[in-house]
Amino acid sequence: MPDAYILGIESSCDETAAAVVRSGQQLVSNVVASQIATHQPYGGVVPELASREHLRAIVPVVRQALSEANQTYNSVDAIAVTQGPGLAGALLVGISYAKALAFALDKPLVAVNHLEGHIHAVLLEERQKGNHELQFPVLALVVSGGHTHLYLAEQNNDGWTYENIGHTRDDAAGEAFDKVAKLIGLGYPGGPIVDRLAPHGDPDAVKFQPSQIKHRDRRERRGQKEVDTDHPRFDFSYSGIKTAVLRYVEVHGMRDSIEIRRKVLANIAKPKLEDYLATCDRLTLDLVASFQRAIVDDLVGKTLAAVRAYNVATLFVTGGVAANSELRKTFERDGAQEGVPVYFPSRALSTDNAAMIAAAAYPKFLAKHLAAMDFSAEASLVLR
Ligand code: KG4
Ligand code: ZN
Repeated sequence: MPDAYILGIESSCDETAAAVVRSGQQLVSNVVASQIATHQPYGGVVPELASREHLRAIVPVVRQALSEANQTYNSVDAIAVTQGPGLAGALLVGISYAKALAFALDKPLVAVNHLEGHIHAVLLEERQKGNHELQFPVLALVVSGGHTHLYLAEQNNDGWTYENIGHTRDDAAGEAFDKVAKLIGLGYPGGPIVDRLAPHGDPDAVKFQPSQIKHRDRRERRGQKEVDTDHPRFDFSYSGIKTAVLRYVEVHGMRDSIEIRRKVLANIAKPKLEDYLATCDRLTLDLVASFQRAIVDDLVGKTLAAVRAYNVATLFVTGGVAANSELRKTFERDGAQEGVPVYFPSRALSTDNAAMIAAAAYPKFLAKHLAAMDFSAEASLVLR
């Protein structure tokens, strides 16, 4: 099989990204234009602004990805683009551009599910390291700003298929990081700064109740004396902890100090760790550390329970939150105790990028699962 160079395009949220990947196993170029500065004043992603910024960035980002890969529009073998899930207007920018390129250049076009992309970020880097042997069943935790989903992943002749065995019932874990950081005046996006501040606080200072999930499917079946032990579910919930942090802030009279922190940080163009630390008292640092510990323990605990229930041989942890240092350390430690190898993408490929889209497209390209020219964005696209 000759090498195939796939140009990937990703625009589902607040990063405009393009990349070239060779045969799903070598990252040749990877360009990401972040919109953080645009959305920062609003404390979260503003969909209309995201679409406008994608429009501005898409052509130069794709050009840069091609030129860094020593490729041209004509030399690549296929074009891959994120179809969903994500912001409809943002997705449409990438899709329209990818369609136009594919039509004008007469190249195959592959539509990719963003969540499948996150899973293939791990596969791409493992293949690049020379690790071609994977033990199945594979379980993937996709944990990002929009998702906290557990998938059993299977490979067959025709590509990959996925079975969802758990997801968040409300907020995603990354969303909880972002909302809590905003609530305590740390700005957007919250995950990276909480990650860096947490080691400066006491993770045992504040006790958060673990989320209690009632698994209706299991209860209903139990009612019928028919417990489905073959397909247990492992759902998550992170809206409760956000409310608990809000209550803690009220009870401990932290509002005024939060307002001061917000104003001080808003006046610094690119705050450094020292700037954050200078505005945070012990109470705040302890709260940040305890919040992160609670999320990490919940993610690791439930995922490893799923590993046991499904006799999983290999665990992937991917998506923006997989960049979190404490999450990585805890998964590595507890995964080793459990006897399951845990693979993460590098930090650069944990958060949104287009290399993962080009990598996920490769098996579809080989199987000739190409997109029709009339396909459109799907904001709530499901992964199967
Ligand atoms: O995968 P991603 O780039 O975009 C989505 O598909 O949502 O994930 C972004 C999310 C944000 O919520 C961000 O706060 C979180 O990932 N994140 C982190 C870290 N880096 C990014 N959360 C915790 N620790 C980090 N180091
Ligand atoms: Zn993502």
